[in-house]
This record gives sequence, C-alpha cells and structure tokens, in this order.
Amino acid sequence: MDFYSQMVFSTIFLCFLLLQVQANASNLQTYMIQLHPQGLTSSVFESKLQWHLSFLEQTLSVEEDCSSRLLYSYSNAMEGFAAQLSETELEYLKKLPDVVAVRADRKYEIQTTYSHKFLGLSVCTQGVCYKSSMGQGAIVGVLDTGVWPESPSFGDSKMPPIPQKWRGGCQEGQDFNSSSCNRKLIGAKFFIKGHHVASSPPSDTVQEYVSPRDSHGHGTHTSSTAAGASVAGASVFGNGAGVAQGMAPGAHIAVYKVCWFSGCYSSDIVAAMDSAIRDGVDILSLSLGGFPLPFFDDSIAIGSFRAMQHGISVICAAGNNGPTQSSVANVAPWITTIGAGTLDRTFPAIVRLSNGEAIPGESMYPGNKFNQATKELELVYLTGGQMGSELCLKGSLPREQVEGKMVVCDRGVNGRSEKGQIVKESGGAAMILANTEINLEEDLVDVHVLPATLIGFAEANRLKAYINTTTDPKARIQFGGTVIGRTRAPSVAQFSSRGPSPTNPSTLKPDVIAPGVNIIAAWPQNLAPTGLLEDSRRSNFTVMSGTSMSCPHVSGIAALIHSAHPKWTPAAIKSAIMTTADVTDRFGKPILDGNKPASVFAMGAGHVNPTRAIDPGLVYDIKPYDYVIHLCVLGYTHSEIFIITHMNVSCHKVLQMNKGFTLNYPSMSVVFKHGTTSKMVSRRLTNVGSPNSVYEVEVTAPEGVSVRVKPRRLVFKHVNESLSYKVWFMSEKRREGRKVSSTEGHLTWLHSENSKYRVRSPIVVTWKN
Ligand SMILES: *[C@@H]1O[C@H](CO)[C@@H](O)[C@H](O)[C@H]1NC(C)=O
Ligand SMILES: *[C@@H]1O[C@H](CO)[C@@H](O)[C@H](O)[C@H]1NC(C)=O
Ligand SMILES: *[C@@H]1O[C@H](CO)[C@@H](O)[C@H](O)[C@H]1NC(C)=O
Ligand SMILES: *[C@@H]1O[C@H](CO)[C@@H](O)[C@H](O)[C@H]1NC(C)=O
Ligand SMILES: *[C@@H]1O[C@H](CO)[C@@H](O)[C@H](O)[C@H]1NC(C)=O
Repeated sequence: MDFYSQMVFSTIFLCFLLLQVQANASNLQTYMIQLHPQGLTSSVFESKLQWHLSFLEQTLSVEEDCSSRLLYSYSNAMEGFAAQLSETELEYLKKLPDVVAVRADRKYEIQTTYSHKFLGLSVCTQGVCYKSSMGQGAIVGVLDTGVWPESPSFGDSKMPPIPQKWRGGCQEGQDFNSSSCNRKLIGAKFFIKGHHVASSPPSDTVQEYVSPRDSHGHGTHTSSTAAGASVAGASVFGNGAGVAQGMAPGAHIAVYKVCWFSGCYSSDIVAAMDSAIRDGVDILSLSLGGFPLPFFDDSIAIGSFRAMQHGISVICAAGNNGPTQSSVANVAPWITTIGAGTLDRTFPAIVRLSNGEAIPGESMYPGNKFNQATKELELVYLTGGQMGSELCLKGSLPREQVEGKMVVCDRGVNGRSEKGQIVKESGGAAMILANTEINLEEDLVDVHVLPATLIGFAEANRLKAYINTTTDPKARIQFGGTVIGRTRAPSVAQFSSRGPSPTNPSTLKPDVIAPGVNIIAAWPQNLAPTGLLEDSRRSNFTVMSGTSMSCPHVSGIAALIHSAHPKWTPAAIKSAIMTTADVTDRFGKPILDGNKPASVFAMGAGHVNPTRAIDPGLVYDIKPYDYVIHLCVLGYTHSEIFIITHMNVSCHKVLQMNKGFTLNYPSMSVVFKHGTTSKMVSRRLTNVGSPNSVYEVEVTAPEGVSVRVKPRRLVFKHVNESLSYKVWFMSEKRREGRKVSSTEGHLTWLHSENSKYRVRSPIVVTWKN
C-alpha cells in the first residue's frame, strides 16, 4: 500500500468511527448543569474544568472520553457546565452532590418581524446630533448572529485606543481572523456547540460561516445600531439617505455570535455571557428571546443576574408578540426590557385606483423617488384557486393569471420580500402587500425586488371590495420618496410585546420603547438587502423592524450614559433611561398605540430620550442584594433563589429584617389581591444633578385609588445624597369585587428651579379578585 492509499484508507476508517459515535449520539441531548459555587467537592480539583469533568466521569461508562460530552464549562454567567447526556445519565447525574439544577437546552429566536431566516437593525435618523466621540470608553457586547467586519459602520478611523481593561479578543474562523478586528470592533467570538448538537445531522443545506462572520445580517444590523461609526452618504438605494450612525458612535463593539440559522441555543448564549463578563464589556445587548419564563428556568435571566453583579447593564428585546396582552419576555427586574416604537420617517407609495380613489401605502422599493409612478396595471387578487395564492406562496401564482399585472398578496406565512420575489418570478409587474387583521394598520417597509407597497387592513378591505365589484380593476403605485416629520411619531409598534408580565406582574414591563420600525443600519456586503438568495442587489445598509432593532438603540444609549458616568450601576443607568422617557410625541400629544393613547403595558415609562437620560437629576439605585430581598417578597423558594442568584438565603430571616421592603424600581406596579385595599411602597432617590436641589412631587392618581406621598418635598444638599419617600395607595370601595382590571397614573419629582429635571415614574394599579 503506498502512502496515498494508506491516507485514504485511514480517512475512511476515521469517518466510519465518527459515524458510529454520531449514531449513538442521536439519543443524547444538551443539558445545562448548574452547580453549587462553593461545592463541597470543588476544592479537591485543580481547576474548574476538572471539577466539572468529574461529574461526567462519575456518570458515564468507563470507556467513554468524558471531555467529548462536555460542551462548555461556565464560571462567570453561571456556575456549572453544558454537556450531552442521555436521559438515564441525566437522572443519575441529577442526584450527585453539588448539583443545584439541570435545564434542557432551549432555543431562543431573534426578534425581527422578518421570517427567521433574517435578523437585524439601526440608524441615524434620530434627529439627535451627537459628536462622533460620544460613548467613548464604553464597550457594548452584542449577542447575535455575528458581524460583517468590512462594513463601513465598523471603521475605526475616529476611535481611541482599546480600553486597558479589555481582556477579550478576536477568534479565528472561516473568513475571519485577528485582522478583522480593529479599535471599533474590539472583540468577536462564536459559540456553536449547542447549535451543533441540536442540528446534527445538519438538515439545512444553507452555508453558514463557522466564525464570528455574519451569515444572516441581523447581528451586523444590531451592533451597528448600538455603536456603529458615522458613515456619510448612507442609504438603501437612495431611500432614507443621510449619515448612518449608531447611538454611541464613540463606543467599542464586541460581538458574540450565538444565533445560527436554526436559532440561538441557551448553552451557547450562557457561554457567550460567561466570556463577555470575563472580557470586560460594560453593556450586553440581546435582541433575542421569545417567550415568558420563570426566572429560575430562564438562562438569560440567570446569566444577566451575574452580569448585573459585575456592573454590566443587560438590555433585552421585549419580543414581537404584540399586541397580545402579557406577551412580554425578558422581564427580570435586573434586565432593561425594550419595546418598539415608530419613527417620523415615511416612504409613501400610494395606490391610485382607476376610479380616482387613493389608498395610502409605504415602500422602500429602490424606484421610490418623489413623483415617480408605475404604469396603470390590471389588478388581481387570487383567492379560492391554488393553495396559498392569496398569500403569494411559492408555486401558487399561475403565470397566465398574473403576468404583467399588479398582484395583491396578504401578509403572513412567508416573508414580505419573498412574496415580491415570487410575484416577480411568476411574471407579475407590481405587488400590493395587504395587512390582515393580525397586522392591522402597521406600516413596515422593505427593499422590494419589484414596484410594491404595503397597505393597512382597513384599506386592504376597501381595495379588495373595489377589485371584487369592478369589471376591469386597475391601479398604479405613485411613489413619494423619503418624507420626514409629517406623521405622528413615535407611536407603539403593533408587533411590540405587551405587559403585564405574566411571571412577575409586580414589575411593570416593558421598561421603555425605542425606535424599532423601519430602521436602517449596516448590512453584510455579500447579502441582498432583502436577504433573498435570488436577489442579486447589494447594499451596505438595509431596513429592518422588530424589538431586535429597538433593543440596541437603548444599548447604545446605556453606553452613552456609562461613558458620561462610569461609576453608575446598571440600575442607575436604567433609572436615567426610564425617568426621562417621553410620553408625548413630536406634536406634544400622547404617544399612540393604534388610534388610542398608549398604555403603560405598551410603552412602559415611555419613549427613550437620550439627551435627557445622560443628565437625569435623580436616580433610583438598586444594590444587587436588593433583588434577593425582592425575590423573597415575591415568594420564590430557597432553591429557586439559589438557582437565580447563587446566594444561600433564608427568606424568613431576610423578610424579618426588611419589613415592608419594596424594590427601588423606577416605575410602580401595585397589585391588589384578594380584597386588599391598601398598599405602601417606598422609594429612595439619589441626587446626581446639582447640590442644593429642591424637588417637589406631582402625582396623577390612577382611577380607583387615592394616593398619598410623604414627604412631598425633597431637599438635597449634596450630590450623591439619597433621600427616601413613601407612597400609600388606597383602593376605593367601588373597586372591590370587580374582575381583573388596571388603571394608570404617574408620579413626578420636579426640580424647583431647573425645569430640565423632571423625574417621572409611571404607576399601574391592578385588581385581582
Ligand atoms: C486574515 O484575513 C484577511 C482577509 O480575510 C487575509 O487577507 C489575511 O491574509 C488573513 N491573515 C491571516 C494571518 O490569516
Ligand atoms: C366578492 O363578492 C362576493 C359576492 O358579492 C362575495 O361573496 C365575496 O365575499 C366578495 N369577496 C371579497 C374579497 O370581497
Ligand atoms: C460598501 O462599502 C464599501 C467600503 O466602504 C465600499 O467599497 C462599497 O463600494 C460599498 N458598497 C456599496 C454597494 O455601496
Ligand atoms: C445554606 O446555609 C445553611 C446554613 O448556613 C446550610 O445549612 C445549607 O446547607 C446551605 N445550603 C446551600 C444550598 O448552600
Ligand atoms: C459620588 O459618589 C461616587 C461613587 O461613590 C464618587 O465617585 C463621586 O466622586 C461622588 N461625587 C461627589 C460629588 O461626591
């Protein structure tokens, strides 16, 4: 046997062995094993890794190589490890000393409104003009789909040197090496082991970069939204032209790739948080999540608690399951939870019917230039024929029925741009996307591959009636370019997940809303701005919508505050963002949710106002241990609290020593249960404005309660001084016995001389009988 055939032989043999292992591996699952941090057995071992491996050694059969089952060894975001185990092995391992909890790996999703093939966010249209150095010194860690490092948004020409404290780095991988990082993008790592196990054998034929490089676009979009550099002359084929810039253009970015085409696995997310804590990020931005979970079963909540203890602000998307009530996710009180609002920028694309009527719509079709229009085209809306033709699914549009026509497609099932591609492939000349009763009047724009517009639900019904009752229905789309400042904005995005939090109604969630609709930000150079493989167009920017987009806006704002006040705790930063948020829109009217004023369950404290958030006057601060007391007040058990905080507390003692404790949260959620009629909450404000400041309280009591505040005046002599006040809520008699209901109001501390200091807390009162 010559050398080469020997090589071939051994390669085949190796593969054969690997396949054997894989076949056995099919009944293995990934579990995260949480251990007691001061475990009795830990001191025996030289390293954490060896200690963690010892659990596998005790569990697995003798011949097996334990390290092949270990995915991650954690020590910062959680004490413990992730491993592949069979159910029998898990049952055995669970009972070993020092094992605190086991959780099966869980899949989270990125929070864009697009089909989950795509992810993304951001831009510069805030009307706020920053110096490009703002955010200097802060490091924003982004857990997402990775990054496209060559995008001009990650240029480092104006960046200061990498902070001394930074311990992270640039991980090599496919088409990615240390030269991909610079003074803007100071870190990039990828976490794939959980994903690998879950999607083996790989069902997807789609190629993904096995490296921090972004195969989707979402992570490039979100990280540039948080802290992308200023890029002049940015646009999406002329739409939304201007300077593209992240919220904190002077801040550094560290990217942790945890999301793959199949989703984002908790074992990978915790590994990334573990690494980010060690690396030294100041802010963590997570545009992912999905469903409400109890804190002790939610790896993001657990990892965030540890991050918070290290002084890291964790900012998360609220989710895109609105307007359904109680759909909000990522609700732990140590997390800042972000809903989505609209911008005052529109891209008009009006449908002009042949009968002279006009139907307003919006589109980012590249031909959307002021006063351009399509020809008048025959209109078709195919129902009742091919399966899914009203939705314009693949293969549902017969060419002879759509060729050269303007096709109406209902939203849902497949992606919005994908419908355009299908219409185009079937010979259609233009498309009208029709909202359904799920989307109502929500305006989302896309970079369509053919002339197209999106219309609201009411207008869609009008259009369909016109088509149905007209012998020769025809229309053209008239474009209006990019228009700024004419519409009421911000308003709450239809898709933005709503409170109250189903797992913890005592904390009002979401905390705030931020821009999340039609956001323009950086995009990979090898992807079409629609994300469609069939689309050969390229652009350094694209538009996306979702709480995935609003989350990094706030991460960037948190970086601005951190940079201005490096010693502030995550709670102080959150307080600054919440108490300065706007509750009125650009026209000074209440922020809307649909056609009604937005409730606190839709917008939390309001819409972020970065300029005011940097200088809030007063903050509500919270020490990490306060959350432990809070969990005791909420009635969490000893072991649940241990899982979340790794602290061994006796709630009995804690509650005895902290009678009447209420968490110093910047909003107030008062729940009257089973006939209680009065509640007291206490709060403590710290002066971060000027010395000798006097504040007076202004209260708008929620309907159905009377509110008493004491004292009504706070006199701060010094900066850093803290003063407390108490608020009594008394439920009115007529409220008793009613079913679940809530009312809202607010409490604001006003500086006696300086009108810029208005420290506002929303109040919500809920009766549960
Ligand atoms: C790093 O990647 C760049 C571009 O992808 C390439 O030009 C360069 O040779 C690589 N450097 C190393 C050390 O591999
Ligand atoms: C079209 O008209 C028919 C008969 O008037 C009616 O049954 C149908 O619901 C209409 N369809 C739409 C989409 O309006
Ligand atoms: C994207 O940015 C790169 C780097 O600045 C530039 O060379 C390229 O021309 C841009 N691509 C497009 C499509 O504008
Ligand atoms: C918690 O502390 C108590 C008393 O200090 C001790 O008996 C108990 O074993 C501890 N439990 C854990 C899980 O550490
Ligand atoms: C306020 O407290 C912080 C942290 O304790 C300290 O760094 C800062 O110097 C103090 N400021 C004043 C004006 O006392």
